[in-house]
Amino acid sequence: MGKKLISMTVNGQTHEVAVEPRQLLIHTLREELGLTGSHIGCETSHCGACTVDFNGESVKSCTLLAVQADGADILTVEGLANDGVLHPVQEGFTEKHGLQCGFCTPGMMIRAYRLLQENPNPSEEEIRTGISGNLCRCTGYQNIVRAVQYAAEKLSAE
Ligand code: FES
Ligand code: FES
Repeated sequence: MGKKLISMTVNGQTHEVAVEPRQLLIHTLREELGLTGSHIGCETSHCGACTVDFNGESVKSCTLLAVQADGADILTVEGLANDGVLHPVQEGFTEKHGLQCGFCTPGMMIRAYRLLQENPNPSEEEIRTGISGNLCRCTGYQNIVRAVQYAAEKLSAE
């Protein structure tokens, strides 16, 4: 089957890409656009390493076909910082050491970004529930929760 031309906005830039009908969004982001910050862990919708912000929602980009992203507005971890200034979520992960190997971190930060848009002042339990679709094999989550709390405080002070 032939490729289909789609247009999507990623981190504020519009891209036209020819994709195969069977191609997953995560592969398009990584291989066609070179945005390798979003990781591939399981490709079966379990780990959350591939999470991106998709039309204002957290979406596991291994669960979507690229053709479903035609016209979409997407934010990946590469788009979080602004002119070299870390986003409060990124700052939180740095300050609170919310990572070890870092494999889950891009998806975790993008999820945390949306969680704080939806609930700017979450309780610890709400943070834990909010990131429950993103698995981390290293940290035990404690410092990830602290990182999100740091970001919540910083964002509400801004
Ligand atoms: S790679 Fe998408 S959820 Fe694991
Ligand atoms: S820091 Fe290693 S998987 Fe989360």
